[in-house]
Amino acid sequence: MKPLKQHTIWGLRGSFILAATGSAVGLGNIWKFPYITGENGGGAFVLMYLLCIALVGIPIMMAEILMGRRARANPIMATAELCEHAGASKGWTTIGWMGVLAGLLILSFYSVIAGWTLEYALAALDGKFAGLTGETSQALFDGLLADSDLMLQWHSLFIAMTIAVLALGVTRGLESAVRWMMPLLFVLLLILLGYAIKEGEFVTSLRFMFSFKLEDLSWEGAQIAMGHSFFTLSLGMGAIMAYGAYMPSSQSVGKTVVIVAILDTLVALVAGVAIFAFVFATPGISPGAGPGLMFVTLPVAFGNMGAGLVIGSVFFVMVILAAWTSTISLLEPGVAYLNERFGLHRIFASLLLGTISWFIGLGSVYSFNDWSELQFLWGKNYFDSMDFIATNIMLPLGGVLIALFTGWKLRDEIILHDLKFESALVFRLWRPVLKFISPIAVLVILYNGIFPVLRAVLVE
Ligand code: TRP
Repeated sequence: MKPLKQHTIWGLRGSFILAATGSAVGLGNIWKFPYITGENGGGAFVLMYLLCIALVGIPIMMAEILMGRRARANPIMATAELCEHAGASKGWTTIGWMGVLAGLLILSFYSVIAGWTLEYALAALDGKFAGLTGETSQALFDGLLADSDLMLQWHSLFIAMTIAVLALGVTRGLESAVRWMMPLLFVLLLILLGYAIKEGEFVTSLRFMFSFKLEDLSWEGAQIAMGHSFFTLSLGMGAIMAYGAYMPSSQSVGKTVVIVAILDTLVALVAGVAIFAFVFATPGISPGAGPGLMFVTLPVAFGNMGAGLVIGSVFFVMVILAAWTSTISLLEPGVAYLNERFGLHRIFASLLLGTISWFIGLGSVYSFNDWSELQFLWGKNYFDSMDFIATNIMLPLGGVLIALFTGWKLRDEIILHDLKFESALVFRLWRPVLKFISPIAVLVILYNGIFPVLRAVLVE
């Protein structure tokens, strides 16, 4: 099977790893992972999360790369091409279509939160965190949420930043962006870690993250861990598939995926340990604050420690970089499709799709203020509804389909041809996991995501 056409391939070896890690490392790692760890009791939750990365995340990520690289095309055309080759029903192209749509939806609300980090980076640089208390910090955050014009401005800027990178192209835009942003992100993270070791309650934080009692393992926590392992690796919507199309054929898929998964996990763990070290060092605040951990609790810590102005700024600039390298991967599948299918220039393709996503995101901006009373899906406001549809339904559904398609439909020779395994053992282990374990685990995620809502509706 020949690739569809002469296709761009990233020349530098590390580029795919940087791009995929850039997609994976995002608000999920720095904002969500620490707070769900805090809410679910620390160590036991972390262990569950690591298990899910290994059993569900890694096999599915391999499958996505394999599909994208085999067809050397965007997710929609890649799935169509592979279906034809495998003699499978065209219905499987749902993977590509749903993926592009899920990317637009996720970008629409993700960039609203990413926008907050722009405001917070400025606030940190401005010294606005100095002397914050729990109440004044909450007031600062509430002030932002109430100001729809300000939020709209940051949401628009973040979408514009995303469009700018994609418009520059696969090599000059995507590849060169991740080649400077990711190393900078790692440097900033190391600065934070160094300061946390030196000045924070580092040992208390380590103990919180890594020691656990078996009775802390709850079924609910396990399910949250499972869902998060999926989101944090950017799986289920073709983002990794789209990047896979640019990965050199000589690169080992197995090794690459393990490196990306380890880097993604390391960033989440290090960010978590540093954040909790700062939080434990500040009297009067606690790690279990939920979504407010990054925007309410942490600024209090920054505002009351020695080098708080510098460290707070370093932190929020790092979060901006992490979110930016993720948003570009959310839009890339659609941009590549419009470009490869209709020959639309990437400038127009990214402007068009970015604008659509910006528009869908307006509701999310207003759901924190003017529309906060409006209900869309079963008692959820607009923001939560979008998040629910994309994260709880579309991503797991895409994941199941990807696992089933590569596990059952693709012929062995396609897979063997493309996976440069070091041993046949990896292949023998990977295929059955993909056929049975991954789909079942993802179905559990899907069920868990939908069932509580269904039950609430039925009970009503
Ligand atoms: N992985 C990113 C995070 O942890 C978010 C993300 C980027 C994503 N691209 C994605 C999630 C594609 C799912 C699918 O923040």
